[in-house]
Amino acid sequence: MKGVILAGGTGSRLMPLTKVTNKHLLPVYDKPMIYYPLNTLIGAGIDDILIVSGPGHAGHFLNLLGSGKDFGVRLTYEIQDDAGGIAHALSLAQDFSDEEEIAVILGDNIFEDTIVEKIHGFKKGAKIFLKGIENPRRFGVPELIGGRIISIEEKPKNPKSSYAVTGLYLYDFEVFDIIKTLKPSPRGELEITDVNNWYIKKRKMDYGIIDGFWSDAGTFESLFRASCLVKDAKK
Ligand code: G1P
Repeated sequence: MKGVILAGGTGSRLMPLTKVTNKHLLPVYDKPMIYYPLNTLIGAGIDDILIVSGPGHAGHFLNLLGSGKDFGVRLTYEIQDDAGGIAHALSLAQDFSDEEEIAVILGDNIFEDTIVEKIHGFKKGAKIFLKGIENPRRFGVPELIGGRIISIEEKPKNPKSSYAVTGLYLYDFEVFDIIKTLKPSPRGELEITDVNNWYIKKRKMDYGIIDGFWSDAGTFESLFRASCLVKDAKK
């Protein structure tokens, strides 16, 4: 399986930290943020990885990570010209994926768990990963009935469960056809949640549960929290 790290966007929620650099290059405790999703994919045995970033800082990713040789993997880079959302960034991975299934991870998602068993055996459809949290309003939130996800709501005011949809997704090649049918959401982006709802509707969606800690790092609070979780895990 190939891997894709989505590291575009403007990082507007972290201004002024993101005024002159990319969110995914900011420190999470003792490493640049992007090292974490990169190591999550590498730890799962994925060694062919595409990094999608924005136009302003693409050179910095290259300076930091290079060919991937130091990590024992092959890295490829793609530029998302405008911040058109996660699903739009993913559409740029079509040629790279070469009709294989892909593991997609958001560049600001920090997972403690290894995902190797979780992605093992994935072939068709899609698979997402849920984490039970206290207040999932800031995330995609699934509605579950009888153990099956019947829909996902993006940033709901009244969440229908206490799970967040984390930024780790497995997709088959059909994902690229689905993205072509999407319309921008009220926030002007092609939403990954719309992609996931398509798979749910077609009953092609599977899910797993994340047991270890998980955090995004896209707000001041979550960036700080992610650093603390990583530091505590080292003790
Ligand atoms: C995105 C997704 C959301 C998901 C989250 C995980 O949100 O749209 O469904 O729960 O990542 O980090 P965003 O960070 O773009 O607000």
